[in-house]
Amino acid sequence: MKALLILLAEVCLASLVPEKEKNPQYWRNQAQQTLKTALKLQQLNTNVAKNIILFLGDGMGVSTVTAARILKGQLQNMKGEESLLEMDKFPYVALSKTYNTNAQVPDSAGTATAYLCGVKANEGTVGVSAAVTRAQCNTTAGNEVTSILKWAKEAGKSVGIVTTTRVNHATPSAAYAHSANRDWYSDNEMSPEAIQQGCKDIAQQLFDNIPDIEVIMGGGRKYMFPKNTSDVEYQNDDKYRGTRLDGKNLIDVWRDKKSKDKNSQYVWNRSDLLSLNLMEVDFLLGLFEPIDMMYELDRNVQTDPSLTEMVQVAIKILQRNPRGFFLLVEGGRIDHGHHEGKAKQALYEAVEMDRAIGKAGDMTSPEDTLTVVTADHSHVFTFGGYTPRGNPIFGLAPMHSDVDKMPFTSILYGNGPGYKIVAGERENVSAVDYGESGGMARCRMGCGEGTWQGPADAT
Ligand SMILES: *[C@@H]1O[C@H](CO)[C@@H](O)[C@H](O)[C@H]1NC(C)=O
Ligand SMILES: *[C@@H]1O[C@H](CO)[C@@H](O)[C@H](O)[C@H]1NC(C)=O
Ligand SMILES: *[C@@H]1O[C@H](CO)[C@@H](O)[C@H](O)[C@H]1NC(C)=O
Repeated sequence: MKALLILLAEVCLASLVPEKEKNPQYWRNQAQQTLKTALKLQQLNTNVAKNIILFLGDGMGVSTVTAARILKGQLQNMKGEESLLEMDKFPYVALSKTYNTNAQVPDSAGTATAYLCGVKANEGTVGVSAAVTRAQCNTTAGNEVTSILKWAKEAGKSVGIVTTTRVNHATPSAAYAHSANRDWYSDNEMSPEAIQQGCKDIAQQLFDNIPDIEVIMGGGRKYMFPKNTSDVEYQNDDKYRGTRLDGKNLIDVWRDKKSKDKNSQYVWNRSDLLSLNLMEVDFLLGLFEPIDMMYELDRNVQTDPSLTEMVQVAIKILQRNPRGFFLLVEGGRIDHGHHEGKAKQALYEAVEMDRAIGKAGDMTSPEDTLTVVTADHSHVFTFGGYTPRGNPIFGLAPMHSDVDKMPFTSILYGNGPGYKIVAGERENVSAVDYGESGGMARCRMGCGEGTWQGPADAT
């Protein structure tokens, strides 16, 4: 019996390593292939890009990318580590340094201003320079900066915004709005002073500033309707009622701005979206949830399209312009999963964005399309613990913590479940002297070698 168990254990350990990986030639061939591909890059593609697709994984730091790669492989019944994300297949890679003019750990608003408008800015502000102070309306005038979406529009290209957050959330809003505060989703979220000083809410700016954005898809319905209007999908839920104090229906405003000889379509659900004749749609506004879209894991497949479906629809419409297009795609809820300490939600969002990147690649050619995948900031999401090959990505490390001898998951959040819980609550660390040697000792879970403390939290 004991012999059998040992044998089983050996078989089990042996099967950690796929058979082909035991052959040195496998790795040498792979290295040769990689080198050949790299050498081919010397024949640079110097074509001017007609189309640009920018994929932004909100909060998708390097640790998230690694864990998402493994999850993708495991969802395909592989061990995981060997799998490739679509971005892993891209020929060029670079690192960028992300901070806001007034913040070490940047937020999605200041960073969106940086990568969309080319100007570093303060935390919490969108489409304005660092001369603007957050939430101070009267610092805005004269400090607006324009985005690549606007430049593309002015060059005669079609433009689109696709996000899993509200369409007036931080990332997309830097493409079209100039706001001293990312939270000014509608006039309801603004101070009376800001309204009186003449600042406009972000939802209003979506339809005023660049009135002919061809494709807008995401969540955010409630900011478009007069206060207390019940939502079309959640009629009995008060938290999804319209918010606008000015009584405007921005869907009507959007429609009114469109030329009558153009085909403009507003849809709020997946079935209507997928039944559109895209060859005939000139302008598309799709608002699928009152606030942010559902996590991919919780998505209602009747009413909500996936990110991949939205990207597919957007490209089909935008591709009809012979002068090309610019499309911003945000996997916006990777960040939200991380904020909530929900690794599963965050990583499934990242895998879904990867699927959308693959779909965009299938629909376009690198000869005329530049596709960039990037992120705005990381999270306190860490990953370590000497897990064996193929360990379930949401599973436990194989050992106990060096510090408290307790088991730990290989994925941890530096600010959430996973850290030491005292009497059902997280330890209050406000009086801890972090400069002293206690730093390591305070790292009570998963702080052995191979585990590292991730970057601090952001939005
Ligand atoms: C701008 O508004 C702030 C309050 O938000 C006020 O304190 C300040 O005096 C105003 N500045 C100018 C130049 O009006
Ligand atoms: C909001 O709408 C509900 C139902 O449509 C109505 O009963 C209620 O009086 C309204 N509240 C306000 C403050 O207008
Ligand atoms: C989608 O929206 C249309 C238009 O409001 C509506 O007729 C249809 O019933 C909706 N479909 C679903 C599945 O909610």
